[in-house]
Amino acid sequence: MKPRLLPIRILGDEILRRKLQEVKTFDAELRDFVADLTHTMYERDGVGLAANQVGKDLRIFVMDATWTRDHKGKNPRVMINPVIEESSGESVNEEGCISIPDLYADVTRPSSITYSYYDIEGNKHREMVSGFPAIVFQHEYDHLDGILFIDKINSLTKLKLKRKLREIEKSTVDGVNIRVYEEQD
Ligand code: CO
Repeated sequence: MKPRLLPIRILGDEILRRKLQEVKTFDAELRDFVADLTHTMYERDGVGLAANQVGKDLRIFVMDATWTRDHKGKNPRVMINPVIEESSGESVNEEGCISIPDLYADVTRPSSITYSYYDIEGNKHREMVSGFPAIVFQHEYDHLDGILFIDKINSLTKLKLKRKLREIEKSTVDGVNIRVYEEQD
């Protein structure tokens, strides 16, 4: 089945602030959802996308820290029920988020992490990464706990971005702020 481009939940949507539920069943429905999530990440030119960004209350994200639209190679990673076990170092990187369109700011995070996760078959793995993949992982992992990168920027930057954030949030109706995109070629 062809994966679908899912609508994106935007800042102001209640599900982006929710602590998500653990995945308990590794079945065909989960595989279909992950395929849709992965397709949507690439269509939105993202290096990561979490389940609640497409309205799903599950601790899942996909990431591909090596992909850019002009570089054809895709290497999607699926992280289910991930846990950051250790972190060290510090690095500052400009971040953005598919759920907060056209807004970028510097965020300070640990530069190396060790994490565990389950794959789509339900097997547990443990890895250590540093550099950009560690930053992407932490950004996506935060989504699963209802945390956005704008929560981690300094207060002066946040003040400067206040109007833009309000502008994005103002289309929220009854806790839902949804944006539907067209497929790219
Ligand atoms: Co994000």
